[in-house]
Amino acid sequence: MPTLPPTLNRCLEWHEFSDAARQAVNNEGLRCIQAAGLTIDLSGQRDSLTLRDTATALLHTRDFPTQRARLFAGEAVNNTEERAAWHSALRAPAPITEVATERSRMNEFIRKADLERRWRNIVHIGIGGSDWGIRLSLSAFGYRQCWRTVRFLANIDGHALESALSGLDPHDTLIVVASKSFTTSETLQNAARACEWLGSAGVPHPKNNVVAITAKPDVAERWGVPRHHIFPFWDWVGGRFSIWSSVSLTTALSVSSDVVAGMQAGAAAMDQHFIEAPIEHNAPIQMALAGIINRSVLGYGSLNISPYDSRLSNLVPYIQQLDMESLGKSVDKYGRPIEVPTGPAVWGMAGTDAQHTFYQWLHQGSDGAPVDFIVCQHADHGWDEHHKLLLANCLAQRQALMQGKSYEQALAGCLAEGRDQDRAHALAHHRVHAGGRPNTLIVLPKLSPFALGALLALYEHKIFTQAIIWGLNPFDQWGVEYGKVLANDITRDLSADHIDCAHYDASTAHWLQSFNQHNKNP
Ligand code: F6P
Repeated sequence: MPTLPPTLNRCLEWHEFSDAARQAVNNEGLRCIQAAGLTIDLSGQRDSLTLRDTATALLHTRDFPTQRARLFAGEAVNNTEERAAWHSALRAPAPITEVATERSRMNEFIRKADLERRWRNIVHIGIGGSDWGIRLSLSAFGYRQCWRTVRFLANIDGHALESALSGLDPHDTLIVVASKSFTTSETLQNAARACEWLGSAGVPHPKNNVVAITAKPDVAERWGVPRHHIFPFWDWVGGRFSIWSSVSLTTALSVSSDVVAGMQAGAAAMDQHFIEAPIEHNAPIQMALAGIINRSVLGYGSLNISPYDSRLSNLVPYIQQLDMESLGKSVDKYGRPIEVPTGPAVWGMAGTDAQHTFYQWLHQGSDGAPVDFIVCQHADHGWDEHHKLLLANCLAQRQALMQGKSYEQALAGCLAEGRDQDRAHALAHHRVHAGGRPNTLIVLPKLSPFALGALLALYEHKIFTQAIIWGLNPFDQWGVEYGKVLANDITRDLSADHIDCAHYDASTAHWLQSFNQHNKNP
């Protein structure tokens, strides 16, 4: 049995790093990094010369440079599934042959469909990584010039199925089934209903209106999708990285292939930055270090994502899956417990809506959370005053989180508003802001495909770097399997004549029987 590297808590460099983090402050000085056209402002995160030195030592003791090289070389960095995590190969400027071949197959399909003005409607059926990235790219770029109607169908909920199909002409509707495994029950059930919908409308060969994007082309063919309508990708593409694969067919059909290519180019530029930039000027690494400090040293339980652009509302669930499905683990890659808190809960909402939803908690809650603000310097609309107010709100919320408001400042404010001394003293306590709450500001010049691609890769590499420091495998997701297995028995028992409640807890047994009875006597 080879000697395993020490767990994080047994690394002297970890303790030196975390001590330096506790003593550092959210410096007021400007600390920005330029990366692939983005500006990442880390002024709201802890910083000190000692922290920088100990961070470098920590990264080296965690073998970061070697692991990063293995990632980009397509080595089996996903040790529990013995696979590579080579999504960077999908966006390489000079792609490997199999990637180039599949990319040109997809582009030919799109060119032909556009030439024939075919498939006015698209129903994209997929879930998780087979869905969020496409929703994000369409909400980012497809809200104006899309001649095709695109509906998304992810949830098994029949209401989702009905709203996805309602009002579409089946004869001019393409069903895109996106599923890496081609076993996800929601996706296969929804796809089967969509085919029935086509058939019942008189479409002669429903499966001819279906394309499948999957890492299991043989399974898709057995399911009935014509071979020339199957766009395979590879096992070394994790589900949550599918956006870089032919899963983006729907984006290319509805917005344009240029958008897909632009996003791939932006991600490739961030790849290069991540590979080449020295640690102190490496945006993903510095965001990762801030994330480790906030989570494992300062104890913040979550990370808030506040994109100040309504076209980026789907960025929140996208990063939720990317981060939480990668870092939501508590054992390292060798199965040993990790003795420090790992992956945070990721949540958020587009600003300024977020200000009217949970910013009270962020400013004055007992815990608060680090915030990633994301904003575009230039808008793609002509409402200049609106954009000015959007930028002002983003910067103001950030300033309030950083500098806070002291009791004395609050008291002065209350008195200035004309309140008497007693009233002002009483109210001032309620208007104190702790301040010093960490944040990162990411500025995109404008929301271009290149900038969005770079942003997504920035988060991918930040998450990878955090995984290396924590010592966990960010590329598997065993935690999502257990619930699926339990669902099989429960699905069976919901319509069984007899339910063996012995292996259910009291509550599950109660509701199983109740729903079972209701199904029989609605
Ligand atoms: O949530 C588990 C998961 O496997 C995700 O990683 C994946 O993106 C999603 O389900 C859908 O999987 P598939 O693309 O294989 O249908």
